[in-house]
Amino acid sequence: MPIPKAELHLHIEGTLEPELAFELAARNGVTLPYPDTAALREAYAFDDLQSFLDLYYGLMAVLRTERDFEDLADAYLARAAAQGVRHAEIFFDPQAHLARGVAMGTVVEGLWRALGRSEATHGVSTRLILCFLRDESADSAARTLAAAGPYLDRITGVGLDSAEVGHPPAKFRAVYEAAAALGLRRVAHAGEEGPPEYVTEALDVLGVERVDHGLRSVEDPALVARLVRERIPLTLCPLSNVRLRTVDTLADHPLPAMLEAGLMCTVNSDDPAYFGGYAGDNFDAVRSVLGLTEESVRELARNSFVAAFLDDDEERRARYLAEVDAYVF
Ligand code: ADE
Ligand code: ZN
Repeated sequence: MPIPKAELHLHIEGTLEPELAFELAARNGVTLPYPDTAALREAYAFDDLQSFLDLYYGLMAVLRTERDFEDLADAYLARAAAQGVRHAEIFFDPQAHLARGVAMGTVVEGLWRALGRSEATHGVSTRLILCFLRDESADSAARTLAAAGPYLDRITGVGLDSAEVGHPPAKFRAVYEAAAALGLRRVAHAGEEGPPEYVTEALDVLGVERVDHGLRSVEDPALVARLVRERIPLTLCPLSNVRLRTVDTLADHPLPAMLEAGLMCTVNSDDPAYFGGYAGDNFDAVRSVLGLTEESVRELARNSFVAAFLDDDEERRARYLAEVDAYVF
């Protein structure tokens, strides 16, 4: 039995496994530019974030109906549950679907068909986080938030993702203010490929409560001190960092030093179908390659539940934390 954990950094579109992509392509009459799943997998050799994003957005062409989004989420939740995930806060990228003529309602209702029964089917509680694409305009983000209006009872928060460098967080000040006024929680990718200044800006200008990745924070000791002092959770994704060449090898990952510095780190999978592993695989990899102690692994699992948006269900958080404390390696 893997240690219980929450997954806080997971793009649902990044869980599209090649087999399901071909199944959905056939169902929807979409022709993929790869002869088979093996050829598609071979294309998963990325140089950087952008080379991954190009493939990631391209493959979304197979997602068209509510049932497609339901099947996608259901497949993720089954895999996550098998790896000890008890709670998942799931990102989705509506602009990438709206641009293809797929409506917000199709995406949210489809995902919700799986998320709404996930506790009963998979034993996994869920939250949904709408991400804005930072390489699109601030106006487009505002229109996207407006389009989500009828579905806000199903959406816990907003995030910011896609190509980071050249798209600093401050561009999205107004839409984050509007999201906060609607009672939505706020997170943002920052410091993945972008500089530590983007992390500071996400905190100060967007008011984020968690930083997604935040890896390059380690370059700025004053920022590290602040993140420690303010107990800001970082949602790290070690296997993603290796595949997108943010670190040279997993052995070079700064996670042990970050824990040592007192940062509130969590370990997540980002886009597991593309990066070689789900949440439990990321835990196993950092444990074996970085030589983390059992107590560090337990700290990572505890942090994931402490950092989860479970403020409306503290009893559940306490139950999950008790499961972590009782876990025998
Ligand atoms: N969208 C999906 N995965 C992402 C990542 N790792 N960084 C930025 N945007 C993303
Ligand atoms: Zn991400």
